[in-house]
Amino acid sequence: MIAVGDGLWLLSTPTSGYAVRLAGDATPTCAHWGPALTLDQARDLPAGRPELPVEGGAWFGVAGLQIRYGDAVRGVEWRHLDHAVEGDHLVLRMADRHYPLEISLHYRVRGEAIERWTTVTNSGAEPVTLLRCDSAAWSLPHRDGYRLSHVSGDWGREFQLRRTGLAAAETVLTSRRGHSGHHANPWLMVDDGDATEEHGEVWSVALAWSGSWRITVERDQHDRVGVSGGFGHEGLTWRLGAGESVDTPVFAGVYSPAGFGGASHRWHDYARTFLLDDRIRPVVFNSWEATEFDISQEQQLALAERAAALGVELFVMDDAWFGGRTSDRAGLGDWWPNPDRFPGGLAPLIEHVRELGMAFGLWVEPESVNPDSELYRAHPEWVLRQPNRRSTEVRNQLLLDFSRDEVAAWAHGWLDDLVRRHDISFLKWDMNRPFTEAGDEVWVPFVRNVYAIIDRLRAEHPQLAIEGCASGGGRADLGMLARTDQTWTSDNTDAAQRIAIQHGYSQLYPARTMGAWVTDSPNAITGRLTPLRFRFHVAMSGALGVGGDLLRWTPQELEEAAALVEQYKRIRPVVHGGRLDRLGLWGVQYTLGDEVVVFVWRPTTLVGGDAPVRLRGLDPDGVYRDEDTGVLHHGALLMSHGLPRPLPFDALSDLRRLKRC
Ligand code: GLA
Repeated sequence: MIAVGDGLWLLSTPTSGYAVRLAGDATPTCAHWGPALTLDQARDLPAGRPELPVEGGAWFGVAGLQIRYGDAVRGVEWRHLDHAVEGDHLVLRMADRHYPLEISLHYRVRGEAIERWTTVTNSGAEPVTLLRCDSAAWSLPHRDGYRLSHVSGDWGREFQLRRTGLAAAETVLTSRRGHSGHHANPWLMVDDGDATEEHGEVWSVALAWSGSWRITVERDQHDRVGVSGGFGHEGLTWRLGAGESVDTPVFAGVYSPAGFGGASHRWHDYARTFLLDDRIRPVVFNSWEATEFDISQEQQLALAERAAALGVELFVMDDAWFGGRTSDRAGLGDWWPNPDRFPGGLAPLIEHVRELGMAFGLWVEPESVNPDSELYRAHPEWVLRQPNRRSTEVRNQLLLDFSRDEVAAWAHGWLDDLVRRHDISFLKWDMNRPFTEAGDEVWVPFVRNVYAIIDRLRAEHPQLAIEGCASGGGRADLGMLARTDQTWTSDNTDAAQRIAIQHGYSQLYPARTMGAWVTDSPNAITGRLTPLRFRFHVAMSGALGVGGDLLRWTPQELEEAAALVEQYKRIRPVVHGGRLDRLGLWGVQYTLGDEVVVFVWRPTTLVGGDAPVRLRGLDPDGVYRDEDTGVLHHGALLMSHGLPRPLPFDALSDLRRLKRC
């Protein structure tokens, strides 16, 4: 809801309020971000920190908008033009007092989240240069202390949660890679140092952008905290020609009065309601770990038979089905079935998969090319390159310049054709290398063209689901999530290590988008031996997939796996549609109406590893029946004392299903 006062705008979510006030010099400022307020209460609030800090005047903090006019003058002096409210969307139209520059600040209330972005228009006849064009700045109320939460990581180790005191400095989270990155993820949370999963105030922001980005959180000399964020990393510039506009990506904010868990609930609800559809995420089989580059039609058919017998609903053939792609050295870019491996094309495999009752999906990596490919030989000029600079290969591949419309049109053309000519309902869209040798003008249009291709494909092929992937979780962000159905969370499928990866992923992103496979033991990357049941339990807490070499699984393993897949299908509505509560690192609870699903795990052998696992958000007066044992539990006791004996003596994990009687 949006209420309008005199130079004052109050945005209300169901449980929070956000007030914008024009300062005396017309600077739009944040007067409030926190608990819900009435317009009357908001009227008494003074102006606060700028909504989009600019260079100029006596502002010495981070400037989210940095601009150079033709005469080398910089900065903005604000002038308020007007505002418009349309439903839950507020636009404050501002301009510079002297230069022909218009700046619209956008706000949109979406559930418990407020989306913000900015449009900058050069309405003059001369070009201007943008050195920085952030989406928005968020300001926190003063508190006695501040703590920063974010994730960092690497390939195979994405989404590691970090929680540290916030330095009295400018702390920059950024990606200079052209994708959102394994090493960081474009969101952060700040609390006063005392918040827990269940209690305390948490302010959180997340950027919907899948290219390079920068979020700076600033704790200033007055102990005030502000966060400015947007696309592009430092050093990139944009030229805005006469009459041109730039729209920044959404930088959304969520206030939680109910701890980090409360923040996650709000982000999950936001993503599920406004970014995702509610189609059931099918149980996937993905061939990558089973076969890597060594694939054939017969072997894929054999895997498909076994996958179908397990209850898999979608068979996905990963890399190496196309061109001369028999290793990572060749073939990328040649998107036709490898004639030696699939002499009759893809149709025989797809038909068989369909006869087995499964949908069919394929792996693609449209943005990349191996120099050893027909595509590169035909179009060497299509790759990202700079004069007088060496070409950097990563995984033996270069990047196609998707900022160029002809390259984007080529990519859309073959993808559309592939999906049109075959019965394909799923694409795993990978990107296995960062940008190098990219000029200033590439970084933003490249990402926009990737978005446009995906949006167009989905509009043209409504049955098509897409999984976002960049060597695992290297491009997982709200921008990608708004146009895909799930994420390939990490190439690391070691269940024990996945727990921390999934714990970090779940801070922002909902379980239904968290692709998780059960693979072989010993694990292909870490060599760890783990029970099948434990591997399943960890993967069943997201969007379950199977990625092991089923041809080598024993009859007993296949039988156990089929039973677990069946069990997963029963709990899937609760895992994907319910509220997710992290029970420390060692458990996770999903609650939907009267139904509760709890996973508990102890990946390391702990003597006395039976500490109680206290459940959350139950009806204290309710009685909950264990669906497997029939034992009755009081909601009040489950919350205050926890599940009695959460784990059988010799188990690494367990799944408990409870229902309120
Ligand atoms: C990336 C992905 C993997 C797999 C390979 C194929 O590493 O993250 O899941 O698809 O590429 O080459």
